[in-house]
Amino acid sequence: MTLKFISASLLCVFCTTLNAQQNDTEAKIDKLISSMTLEEKVGQMTQLTLAMVCKGEAFDDKKNIEIDPVKLDSVLLKYHVGSILNTGTHTLPREKWYELITQIQKVAAEKTRLKIPVLYGVDAIHGATYTQGSTLFPQELAMAATWNPSLVEKAGAISAYEVRASAIPWNFSPVLDLARQPLWSRFFETFGEDPYLATQMGNAIVQGYQGKDFNHPEKVAACLKHYVGYSFAFSGKDRTPILMPERLLREYYLVPFQNAIKNGAMTVMVNSTEINGTPVHADYHILTEILKQELNFQGFAVTDWEDIIMLHTVHKIAPTYKDAIAMAINAGIDMSMTPLDVSFCKLLTELVKEGKVPISRIDDAVRRILRVKYKLGLFEHPYYEMKSYPKFGSAEFAEQNLQTALESITLLKNKNDILPLSKNKKVLVTGVAANSLNPLNGAWTHTWQGVETKFNPTNKKTILQAMQDEIGGDKVVFVQGTDYDKDLNIALAVKEAQNVDYIIVCLGEKPSTEKPGDIDDLTMDKAQLNLVKELAKTGKPIILVLAENRPRIISEIEPLVDAVVMTYHLGNEGGRAIPEIIFGDVNPSGKLPFTYPRFTGSFSTYDYKASETRDQTFGFNEINPQYTFGSGLSYTRFQYSNLTIDKNKISESDSIKVSVEVTNTGSREGKEVVQLYVRDEYASITPSNKRLKGFSKVNLKAGESTVVTFIIHPKDLAFVNAKNEWLTEAGDFTVMIDKMSKGFLLSK
Ligand code: BGC
Repeated sequence: MTLKFISASLLCVFCTTLNAQQNDTEAKIDKLISSMTLEEKVGQMTQLTLAMVCKGEAFDDKKNIEIDPVKLDSVLLKYHVGSILNTGTHTLPREKWYELITQIQKVAAEKTRLKIPVLYGVDAIHGATYTQGSTLFPQELAMAATWNPSLVEKAGAISAYEVRASAIPWNFSPVLDLARQPLWSRFFETFGEDPYLATQMGNAIVQGYQGKDFNHPEKVAACLKHYVGYSFAFSGKDRTPILMPERLLREYYLVPFQNAIKNGAMTVMVNSTEINGTPVHADYHILTEILKQELNFQGFAVTDWEDIIMLHTVHKIAPTYKDAIAMAINAGIDMSMTPLDVSFCKLLTELVKEGKVPISRIDDAVRRILRVKYKLGLFEHPYYEMKSYPKFGSAEFAEQNLQTALESITLLKNKNDILPLSKNKKVLVTGVAANSLNPLNGAWTHTWQGVETKFNPTNKKTILQAMQDEIGGDKVVFVQGTDYDKDLNIALAVKEAQNVDYIIVCLGEKPSTEKPGDIDDLTMDKAQLNLVKELAKTGKPIILVLAENRPRIISEIEPLVDAVVMTYHLGNEGGRAIPEIIFGDVNPSGKLPFTYPRFTGSFSTYDYKASETRDQTFGFNEINPQYTFGSGLSYTRFQYSNLTIDKNKISESDSIKVSVEVTNTGSREGKEVVQLYVRDEYASITPSNKRLKGFSKVNLKAGESTVVTFIIHPKDLAFVNAKNEWLTEAGDFTVMIDKMSKGFLLSK
């Protein structure tokens, strides 16, 4: 009792202090806004790319990036620009980041009238992408495969540390789009296909980036992107039209954003495409009514790259650039990543003077932007000293990275328990991903597309190098076999295969993202398929390692291989992690965060509708994926038993307790992800086959058992109805864990 009372009083004191701080900040913002000219306000809403304040026309790798003081003065003093983003074309040393950013912030602090710090933002997508020597983690899809939010939170915290250690306080991450269209070039940037899983992972990474309070030298502001629905293009090509009923948008795509906003995320970047014919950058309903009014978002919405001008040049809804600006700002855009042009400032100023954009809208946008600058503590500390970050790129961070990579790896096939391999045998290591850090890391690695090799660190191991360390160079033969899409020396690989015990073939997709990553065919490159087919003719056992951006179709070669090790983009420690799994130092525990298609013409997700299974009658079955969502093997066996629910009838004010016993019946320690699914048997909107409602990753020694318990509340059973409202309907539900199920009735 006493303890409860004390903690409640402490909470009260804490809340009062927090409210007082907030009021104080809001008062400062009011004061600042009241002293700003229209031009200064519009400047805060403008974001330019670094090139705009640097010497030379555009960046090229050979030139040293240097601030041009005349350009910088013009951008900050004449146009009052409030935000700068990006790198030149590639990764920079930390010293260089400090040199660039201290110069920018010095002009802001010493020469501008109001001394408002610049908000610098960068794409630090799987770690500090553009800082040399940073800790590059598995990409989001791989992180989702860990089903371990605590690893994801730690990865977020280390990434935040290293971004802030580069003098940058704002990270354009995480991507909270859902991967439900396998052709999409940014599949690997997401936390997978399921809104529940993406929400848990999204919350974890935002917590890692921001902590409780991002006014801290080791934290950055997160930017949720791309708000909202961006990933589900009908054509599968990046930035092409999306057709999506609002019902679906709310039940699936909005959910991870909604939760991350509730957990304190203060910036969002807007979806570059159109939904149902309206580009999101001009959509008042999505930007203002949903984001700001309904979700009570207090931060600001930044456009994606050049997306206002594209309302005119690409989407053709605005006859001029000026009309486009009015549309976007009136719809609710707060900051424009223009980013190569300053005419935005002049045109928006004119629009306000002409009464086409109300000053109240401008004040609202500026208030939101200043709120983030204050919350980040930029007015006191536009950056912290470089020496405050002794752990940057440290062995401690690399170790945490390795653990994350190990838990990401997903064993999808293991015929006759061929894995783990014995370290005494001889192996052929082959394939384009075998001896390169690029397919291990993917895009957003040192450069935008991640294909340059010259920025790769020399102290990180490729799969081949780590295999040689693992079992000794004398037992490893290497022949590359192919490039991404060319036969280099397949015949030689086949010849060498005769003399080994096992073949480890590492297929890889050329790193890419956004428009450059569009593809016409989901099938894995022909040359790489041929490599496997030719190797299979030797009769030697084949271990297939897949380092890919999205689930490339492998159905032609899958029956030819004995094991499939899915590695996604594992990051800089991926090379070390893969042999540790293949040779059994570590037991795999990753689970697929999406449905891996078998055919190029049959896509489905695990939560399909019953009508999708009807093709069976006609000799087809849409629901026949290569690998199912949530699947992943271990070197031990887990047995599920005693699924119990504490009630078989609940009312809307009740909750239901679901328990299951999991036993490690194998001979070694391992981790298992216990997944709870629920099916709504009948509903007024066609129900899904099942929906993920909970998961828990447990570690069990050989022979050990544990009981895992989940609580389901009626609100967890809700769906969005035809009126776009969340609704829990009475009726029969089925709870499923592993192969067991139990039914219960929800009554009104
Ligand atoms: C991408 C964003 C990225 C932005 C800034 C855009 O092209 O869609 O994800 O944050 O560029 O680099």
